[in-house]
Amino acid sequence: MATYDLIVIGAGPGGYVCAIRAAQLGLRVAVAEGRETLGGTCLNVGCIPSKALLHATHMLHEAEHNFAAMGLAVSRPKVDWKAMQAYKADVVGQNTRGVEFLFKKNKITWLKGWATIPAPGQVRVADDTHTARHIVIASGSEPSPLAGVEVDEKTIVTSTGALSLGRIPKRMVVIGGGVIGLEMGSVYARLGTQVTVVEYLDRLIPGSDGEVAKTFQRMLKKQGMEIITGAAVQKAEALKTKAKVTYRLRKDDSEHTLDTDVVLLATGRRPFVDGLGLEALGVKMTGRGQIATDARFRTSIEGIHAIGDAIEGPMLAHKAMDDGHALADILAGHTAQVDYNLVPGVIYTTPEVASVGQTEESLKDAGRAYKVGKVSFMANGRAKAVFQGDGFVKLLADRVTDRILGAHIIGPMAGDLIHEICVAMQFGAAAEDLALTCHAHPTFSEAVREAALACGDGAIHA
Ligand code: NAI
Repeated sequence: MATYDLIVIGAGPGGYVCAIRAAQLGLRVAVAEGRETLGGTCLNVGCIPSKALLHATHMLHEAEHNFAAMGLAVSRPKVDWKAMQAYKADVVGQNTRGVEFLFKKNKITWLKGWATIPAPGQVRVADDTHTARHIVIASGSEPSPLAGVEVDEKTIVTSTGALSLGRIPKRMVVIGGGVIGLEMGSVYARLGTQVTVVEYLDRLIPGSDGEVAKTFQRMLKKQGMEIITGAAVQKAEALKTKAKVTYRLRKDDSEHTLDTDVVLLATGRRPFVDGLGLEALGVKMTGRGQIATDARFRTSIEGIHAIGDAIEGPMLAHKAMDDGHALADILAGHTAQVDYNLVPGVIYTTPEVASVGQTEESLKDAGRAYKVGKVSFMANGRAKAVFQGDGFVKLLADRVTDRILGAHIIGPMAGDLIHEICVAMQFGAAAEDLALTCHAHPTFSEAVREAALACGDGAIHA
């Protein structure tokens, strides 16, 4: 048994950032983690391995579709799935070992095992009970189940199984046209799998800007993905040599089936809080199974805090990191808060899709007077050079004050481009501020400046 200032439960992006920041601020910190390696879902079976596969398969796509056009003659690359898996594992290993190194550097104790909270101020890991002034629950999330769909992680898989399939399937049905479905669907579509996405709503990526969703759907179809919208999946069954998915079209309630080799269930995630002992402690939960917290991440029990996917807000690694960073500051006696309106969202497909702030739909719903500056990447020399002229930057600004309210990008490096808009919004900038800022030529980011110009007197290349 040992005593700490802070014990964090979970070493994902929320938990490890909270622990490191708290240690840097002088607290004595331990982290309980039951996985073999640090980094949580994101590093082990989420963001990082999926990005490795997205990168590898993007390279394959480039070789197959664009090399010849650039005068690079190669025969079709042969995919060695085992070697691609080894590359993915190596990338994961480098990252998880990196967190372990940072723990050692910051003198953070790793309590190996799954933790429970037997009483306020106490954390039990394996057979030991440790005490702490502050406890932070950063236990993350897990795939939500869907009635009628039994996951075996072989034929019917979640994102975890989809990252490590035994072989590249001929056919795959993806249930859910959200972020996971489209990222993993893209990976397999590029590897030659016939991918069919079945989405309940009439559009992809709920909550995203409608124009972006429409453009994205067109581009994915062009890449060979079949997309069925307005379809509620009822059942997915693993048969002897294949799988069968049954869905109903919402417009006429007709029932349809799809034969496939692998089914990916990607209909959302839910907080992973089982086994922590929260019910016995009387920790208040929200109606959606999240731990209820206030703006300072306090739960209903004194000394117990919660962050990341386990609480309300977007289930994103960087949101969890910001929660963890802010909470560590608060626990060390500083002031901190997270502005959730400025949390960007990125889909790492090709093209990338990125957004921050309000959508046109949310502004309309709020009855707000706004203006739109939209420019195509077709007018961006750099984008054309990399075969990514299809796509656009759309900037939303207040019609009267010109203050930037949101941005939506579909195109090359969108996930990086979005951040200059995040910074601008953090400083309460007007579109004109971006428009007056010199942007290097030729860069993708010129399209952001052009969109800002389009909010005013007009873009040059439009
Ligand atoms: P999601 O919430 O993004 O999308 C789920 C989709 O499934 C929705 O479009 C929903 O309408 C649909 N759906 C639900 N029930 C259905 C049914 N019976 N039949 C057909 N469609 C149905 O969830 P997803 O993609 O599983 O991702 C989970 C979480 O992980 C999200 O919060 C996401 O933001 C996060 N994530 C973020 C990534 C990133 O930032 N790049 C990457 C991967 C995950």
